[in-house]
Amino acid sequence: SAIAEQWSRGALMFLSRRTGLKDWATRLPPLKKLSRRFVAGETLDEAMDAVKALTAQGLSASFDHLNEAVKDAAETREEVREYRRLLARIDQTGVRANVSLKLTQCGLLLDEALALENARQVVADATSRGSFVRIDMEHGAVTQVTLDIVRKLHAEFGEPHVGAVLQSCLRRTEADARALCDERVRIRLCKGAYLEREAIAYPDKADVDASFVRCMKVLLDSGVYHGIATHDERMIDATLEHAARRGLPRGAFEFQMLHGIRADLQRQLADQGHPVRVYVPYGRHWYPYLMRRMAERPANLAFVLKNLARG
Ligand code: FDA
Repeated sequence: SAIAEQWSRGALMFLSRRTGLKDWATRLPPLKKLSRRFVAGETLDEAMDAVKALTAQGLSASFDHLNEAVKDAAETREEVREYRRLLARIDQTGVRANVSLKLTQCGLLLDEALALENARQVVADATSRGSFVRIDMEHGAVTQVTLDIVRKLHAEFGEPHVGAVLQSCLRRTEADARALCDERVRIRLCKGAYLEREAIAYPDKADVDASFVRCMKVLLDSGVYHGIATHDERMIDATLEHAARRGLPRGAFEFQMLHGIRADLQRQLADQGHPVRVYVPYGRHWYPYLMRRMAERPANLAFVLKNLARG
């Protein structure tokens, strides 16, 4: 029922923030097994294999090294090194991929100046290689500072090298979409994966979806290259319809989906000639990412519980 679903979503979102549980939880075999569906592996080599397979199918990718709970400045510097290794590997192997980066892994919750400097180094490296860094969007408390940092990086490195993410669940997002489009910032539009307060976010899914459609139209009408990130066929159909109405050619924007979700739809859109990018997360710190994927779909939780009960 809707109430059970809301309850399990709330509980999972709560657990996703309890990183103290993760050492225990990540050893549970059913959770580890489920993580294999959504996370490409713990190492860069495993993620590279997943991306090579996508490239062979005509799909492109965005790598994401998971680590949102960094403890100190030294750990954030290690994240920068990992992204530089990653950008070098993309260059060497010629896979069709860019990278997605979270400001928390750059140290946003420790020191904003540190996060900006770390993100700057990754974007500078990507720029020198002709690549692109998508700055992921996290919970509502960091929306403004995240957009401020994206704007600084955009002013320094330019449209083809850094972009933002907006979440249609937030009440502010349509206004953000208009402003960022005017500034020619590339946007990934998604629904939003974090539990937010009603003061800042729509509590009803129907409103989140209606907002997604309104924002999608702002993006498609802007003449900037954006990403429409969803597995929701109704959102995808609305996008295709709007693009056809505006006479947009294929390639004026891209669809984006997550590794492990609706691979059939990813291939189908690519076969129809639409650019499709798959978000490929990897690394040891997959716990909060997996919990967000579970919260999106109670069936994923049922899978874990069933396997736990089986022992
Ligand atoms: P919705 O949740 O309505 O799902 C539609 C359908 O998709 C479902 O019926 C099901 O078939 C499938 N599906 C969706 N989630 C599933 C799951 N976990 N397991 C199995 N099936 C599932 N969020 C954020 O806050 N910040 C960010 O930076 C990003 N980045 C991002 C990048 C990309 C490429 C994608 C696709 C998504 C994100 N997200 C994100 C996540 C996003 O906000 C959202 O939580 C998920 O995409 C799920 O929403 P849908 O649009 O798919 O719709």
